[in-house]
Amino acid sequence: MELRIMVTGATGTMGAELVRQLHSKSADVVAVSRDLERLPKDIKGMQVPLENRYLLEQAFRDIDVLVFIQPLCENMIQQAENVVGAARASGVQFVLKVSGLGASPVSRYLYQRVQGEADEILVQSGLRYCLLKPNIYMQCFLKSHYESLMAGTLYLPQGEGRTSFVDARDVADVAALLLQDPWRHQKREFVLTGERALSNAEAVSIISHYARRRVSYVPVTEEAARKTFNREASPWMMEAQMSLHRATREGAAAEVSGVINKLLGRDPRSFEEFCEDMKKAWVLPEPQEGLL
Ligand SMILES: NC(=O)c1ccc[n+]([C@@H]2O[C@H](COP(=O)([O-])OP(=O)(O)OC[C@H]3O[C@@H](n4cnc5c(N)ncnc54)[C@H](OP(=O)(O)O)[C@@H]3O)[C@@H](O)[C@H]2O)c1
Repeated sequence: MELRIMVTGATGTMGAELVRQLHSKSADVVAVSRDLERLPKDIKGMQVPLENRYLLEQAFRDIDVLVFIQPLCENMIQQAENVVGAARASGVQFVLKVSGLGASPVSRYLYQRVQGEADEILVQSGLRYCLLKPNIYMQCFLKSHYESLMAGTLYLPQGEGRTSFVDARDVADVAALLLQDPWRHQKREFVLTGERALSNAEAVSIISHYARRRVSYVPVTEEAARKTFNREASPWMMEAQMSLHRATREGAAAEVSGVINKLLGRDPRSFEEFCEDMKKAWVLPEPQEGLL
């Protein structure tokens, strides 16, 4: 029997890629966003905020397998309680949850601790589940770091810390594979990393090569990073981001797991492959005549 799969966070970095893959394989997939306009037109979509337990329960009614992707936000725990409670109430059979490297309810880093607490809600729920724990996506260099890279300098309070960045497309490949037979992977957790850990200086040097212009990394103090942090963000969000930076600075993001290789039977995409695929994004536009 074909499984009906629902993906929350379906417009996000990994979620969008996973939905695209599942759809291209003709899987029965339903994508969740808070705004249907953000979803591709040819994909079945539902508009459900993770804060609305009632709507979640309605949405999960005919769903066999849920891929639970939630944003980094202050109410992650409440969202996890809503989603897991609604999944149980609606008879969802399996939940594949996207967590993160180092997630643990006893982590000394705020972000990883909250992620771990959210995971624990699923683990303790009695639902059948599997956890994916990817490291930071390479795609961060196209999203959160994009403006800095375009301006030529990436300022981060990560010192010389190394990160085994993973390509979100590999994480989607793994998720799609596990979804072929989720029951086989019950109660497992998979730490997903790139093939090697790079310092930010090394990463931007590789980007410089593909962008064909110089981009630099300048480590800054946490104090300096706090002063320039988005003024509209909440104090919790600032602390969560600072904890991620601290984890990197202290070497907690450098683990290389080799799990993608074992699962997919191939190497994870390298940072160079990612840069080659995305190189157009970092090239500065040619100055237009008349604007000079
Ligand atoms: N980014 C990384 O490097 C990385 C690495 C490892 C693990 N992760 C984990 O992956 C998860 C997603 O992170 P991301 O960076 O990939 O996020 P993202 O690309 O910013 O996507 C966030 C997704 O969450 C949805 N969303 C936001 N608020 C929502 C709400 N209240 N109700 C329903 N949906 C909501 C968004 O959909 P709409 O806006 O369309 O509603 C979007 O699809 C996080 O838990 C993170 O820990 C991320």
